[in-house]
Amino acid sequence: MKKLWGGRFSAGTNEAVETYTESISYDRRLWRHDITGSIAHARMLGRQKIIPRQDAEIIVKALKEIAGEIERGEFVFRREYEDIHMNIEARLTEKIGPVGGRLHTARSRNDQVALDIRLYLRDETTAIIGLLERFRRALVTLAEKNTDAVMPGYTHLQRAQPVLFAHHLLAYHEMAARDADRFSDTLKRISVLPLGSAALAGTTFPIDRHFVAKQLGFAAISENSMDAVSDRDFAIEFLSCCAITMMHLSRLSEDIILWASGEFGFIDLPDSFATGSSIMPQKKNPDVAELTRGKTGRVYGSLFTLLTIMKGLPLAYNRDMQEDKEAIFDAVDTVKAALDVMARMIPKMKVKAARMREAAEGGYATATDLADYLVEAGLPFRDAHEVAGKAVAYCISRNKTLGELTMDEFAGFSNLIKDDVYGWLSVDGSASRRKSHGGTAREAVLARLDAIRGRK
Ligand code: ARG
Repeated sequence: MKKLWGGRFSAGTNEAVETYTESISYDRRLWRHDITGSIAHARMLGRQKIIPRQDAEIIVKALKEIAGEIERGEFVFRREYEDIHMNIEARLTEKIGPVGGRLHTARSRNDQVALDIRLYLRDETTAIIGLLERFRRALVTLAEKNTDAVMPGYTHLQRAQPVLFAHHLLAYHEMAARDADRFSDTLKRISVLPLGSAALAGTTFPIDRHFVAKQLGFAAISENSMDAVSDRDFAIEFLSCCAITMMHLSRLSEDIILWASGEFGFIDLPDSFATGSSIMPQKKNPDVAELTRGKTGRVYGSLFTLLTIMKGLPLAYNRDMQEDKEAIFDAVDTVKAALDVMARMIPKMKVKAARMREAAEGGYATATDLADYLVEAGLPFRDAHEVAGKAVAYCISRNKTLGELTMDEFAGFSNLIKDDVYGWLSVDGSASRRKSHGGTAREAVLARLDAIRGRK
């Protein structure tokens, strides 16, 4: 098979080299974006009279036909043609003869592949932002259904202070909102047109890059041809957005795994989102959450793959950069799948509010409230902390909760304690007093829900 670049070669490519260097086995995924870019390029070439107008029309029509062939599964991808760019160009020439050879005027695969990845990532970034929105809605809906559930909030994975379950869920909503924001911001740097940089130095032809950018919906064009063909910052940034999103999903997964355990017992996972064990009949495993936690590693791997590929490359294009694609594709697939499955699972989790409350009541989670009570009664916080600590130690030795202490017992710790203290020691009372902006009080959480839902 004759190579499109075969002019200066007299010997064919070694079989092993062909296998080693090809990318068509995976970059075929870029076919739609490759054709979109080529159509915009061909139209510009015709408009600028760089190639005859009717040739441009013939090329555009044939490219559209090729898109149909690929869509219908009729297109034969050939490893000998290395990558998606040359597979499509070879087919073009097969269809329309030498006119097809005019398409690559004023262009190189270097600026072509940079364009393809940008077009691809623009689509995928938009898709991920949409999936993040769905994931956020799932969290908000579950929070709205459970505004009465009180659970222990943890630090060091030790019961710390009572919080609303809804407050805990909305923490993840905030993370996902920042994630979406980060992806939107990255979109600005993805949506820059590299085409027209040619191999690295620009082109001698009177091209109109702004016209191409406009056709493709890019707001900006690149300012330096050498940068444009060798820049993958936008992809690294995209992968870092993916990595941070996965890190958040992984933390939520870890919470879900703990909550679903017998020890916590805060939620029941739906049967349809869990699996059993082949040996232990009693098991119902939180695999979705575990795999999300595990897949986070893959996505971090993609980010490091790209950072490492790029770190030693002299300007401008180097073939090393072909290795960006599988890492990018894998991260895209993984993040999308994780967001999708988590958004499906969350609404189906059964919240065991009674068990949460019991755990919140059991762990001396209102000891801070006893200290706060004493502060209100006039004691400096450090002394109040000491008194409350002693009360907790006493309760532990008597196997009592703070709320079960009698007034006589309280008197042994401080004469500032009156019988209104019991209101402070209930988990509801504790949570409801944390009205500071962003706090866990029911009214603060409801206010945040209103703001999220746009009701304010
Ligand atoms: N398949 C190549 C890649 O993905 C396309 C660019 C090839 N350019 C080159 N000069 N060999 O990077």
